[in-house]
Amino acid sequence: MKVINVVGARPNFAKMAPLYFKLRKLKKVRPIILHTGQHYDYRMSRVFFEDFDLPYPHYFLGAGSGTHAEQTGRIIVGFEKVLLKEKPDLVIVFGDVNSTLACGLAAKKLSIALAHVEAGLRSFNMAMPEEVNRKVVDLFSDFLFTPSEDSKTNLLKEGIRKEKIHFVGNIMIDSLVMVLKKMNKSYENEILRRFGLKKSKYGLITLHRPANVDDKNSLKKNMRLLNKFAETLPLIFPMHPRTRKNIRRLNINFPFEEGVRIIRPVRYKEFIAFLKNSLFVLTDSGGIQEEATYLNIPCFTLRPETERPITINEGTNELVTIKDAEKKLELVLSGKWKRGGRPKFWDGRTAERIIKILENAFFK
Ligand code: UD1
Repeated sequence: MKVINVVGARPNFAKMAPLYFKLRKLKKVRPIILHTGQHYDYRMSRVFFEDFDLPYPHYFLGAGSGTHAEQTGRIIVGFEKVLLKEKPDLVIVFGDVNSTLACGLAAKKLSIALAHVEAGLRSFNMAMPEEVNRKVVDLFSDFLFTPSEDSKTNLLKEGIRKEKIHFVGNIMIDSLVMVLKKMNKSYENEILRRFGLKKSKYGLITLHRPANVDDKNSLKKNMRLLNKFAETLPLIFPMHPRTRKNIRRLNINFPFEEGVRIIRPVRYKEFIAFLKNSLFVLTDSGGIQEEATYLNIPCFTLRPETERPITINEGTNELVTIKDAEKKLELVLSGKWKRGGRPKFWDGRTAERIIKILENAFFK
């Protein structure tokens, strides 16, 4: 039985790794890894294969960057060729990036069974490319594996048949648990020392959403906010290539204060060390809202909404605006921040639950 696992962009790798290793243990299953090449820089892609001890992908489509249509189109065409050659029994797609949608579509058009891991998340903001990707891929997936109960509710409301929906928990947390086990205090201290940081005495920043970094005005405002924060405590900012390129493209000569330390994208383990020891994280990423919730680190999400409301209802996450962000920082500094707990099934055993369902329904 052949199963193609599709990855393409940075957040996909951590979601695929735990499931791939479990699939590999099944006698009847031959798991194949296909990398679309949506992300291609060493630090956005290869590094995660090294970090998770993943084998080199069996297929690499080399799709690269471009407009949505160019990128999505190239992936559909490339993946269809692989599907026609391999004739897999199942395709598994992860998350909500363009590769998820493109490969899901190509598979379904050839009537190949499709599983979507991280189904049912909704921001209800159709201006986000990820929202379009998720909604469409959920519509035609055969197995919808959800990270939280509210995601299941979203899918039921959209008319998805309940037999297709399986609440299995958060697969990203499987990877997080895995890496936490491999990490020790001396590694964490070494990372902090290398960047001149002290435990709980710095903020971690990630910003890369088009709404925050593609428009000159918003980008400038966000940079100003970071400078303001840096008057109070140092910040470490592993900058996404989209943000870096926009600063250049939009000709922004706005200087960062000394306290804002810009670095290149970091390895998964390094990032988790930064997050675990930070006073807070300011982000617009989806996965980081979840990781901060698991690690009980205050998380400020610089977005008007989130597709992961459970991180607000049960975790440490809060939505912030440029206007109220400084107030939130003051609260954190005075120890008055929103504590949280770990949502159900965010326990490192999600891949195991997925395998059980696939075994019963599919690998018989
Ligand atoms: C993509 C996902 C987003 C996810 C993010 C995580 C979509 C629509 N968006 O956004 O949901 O949160 O990945 O990182 O799929 N670039 C490089 N090197 C790389 C990859 C990208 O320099 O290895 C630059 C290119 O200039 C490219 C830009 O980043 O044009 C954006 O890349 P793209 O894959 O289109 O979207 P992301 O912003 O990375």
